[in-house]
Amino acid sequence: KIETGLEGLSNSKELYEFRSSYLEGKKSKISELMKEMRNLAPEERAGYGKSVNELKEWAIDRFSKMEEKMKQLELQRRYESEKIDLTLPADETGIGNLHPITLVRNQLIDIFAGMGFEIYEGAEIENDYYNFTALNTPKDHPARDMQDTFYLSPEFLLRTQTSSGQIHVMESKKPPIKILSPGRVFRSDDDATHSPMFHQMEGLVVDKGITLSDLKGMLDLFVQKIYGEGTVTRLRPSYFPFTEPSVEVDCSCFECGGKGCNLCKGTGWIEILGAGVVNKKVLENCGIDSEEYSGFAFGIGLERTAMLKYGINNIKMLFGSDLRVLKQINEK
Ligand code: PHE
Repeated sequence: KIETGLEGLSNSKELYEFRSSYLEGKKSKISELMKEMRNLAPEERAGYGKSVNELKEWAIDRFSKMEEKMKQLELQRRYESEKIDLTLPADETGIGNLHPITLVRNQLIDIFAGMGFEIYEGAEIENDYYNFTALNTPKDHPARDMQDTFYLSPEFLLRTQTSSGQIHVMESKKPPIKILSPGRVFRSDDDATHSPMFHQMEGLVVDKGITLSDLKGMLDLFVQKIYGEGTVTRLRPSYFPFTEPSVEVDCSCFECGGKGCNLCKGTGWIEILGAGVVNKKVLENCGIDSEEYSGFAFGIGLERTAMLKYGINNIKMLFGSDLRVLKQINEK
């Protein structure tokens, strides 16, 4: 009976219950057999008891062997059910891409590094002297109003322009100087094309005999590389305290080739950066002889460049985390 019963069992729980019905407690089958003893003649009792005890020993042994077997079986079943199919193709995880500002920054660095510029990364916290005074913008100078400044204290401020880096470089290095300074700048400005934090890239070249035409030649090369061959520049007179003369630089519209379209508002030209010949006063402020040396400087807005290049019309799109926008702008 035990043997046939065992055959019908399929898991440890059933086995445990089956075993209990034979071996555990006063109501178990073996106990019941023992109770039968009182109905026997006294001389038969010893033999009967011995047989029942043997049966019990045998059953205990049989059940423990069966337990062992059942455990093995269950383990095997578990292995089967948890088996991993290593040949299944993996779920696709999207690869991220560089942020548009990073893309533009890298492109510009590539282009200017190719022209021999070195990178100088200045500090975002500056004092009044480096951000304004040394750049020929003393207190009360009306040009300070052009850049609405975040002051941290009467002395310190968040730089409003990467031009502050020019002073540090010229104070610490003798010409020839050829540096490119990318970084964050800050102004209290907030609308569709302005953000309180944005990025600029400053260029500064100081050497003997540097003129505005060197600037123009370099910029022509630059716009061809970034906006495509055939793009040309035009300089318009402007004003910055630290350059004299100062220019606003336009490039021919790369969207319509100069015929006039939405991007260039029908003018055929797009404003891309501010620049000029380094003001002699600025050179002198840094201890550079303005009779012997001259230079040019330019400042490019990276958000503006990215917006032009990728057709983005609101600067906030660059600082939101909308993947629909960010995924589209993806140059490998
Ligand atoms: N610093 C100027 C600005 O932020 C840009 C500039 C840089 C102009 C260098 C001339 C030369 O508007």
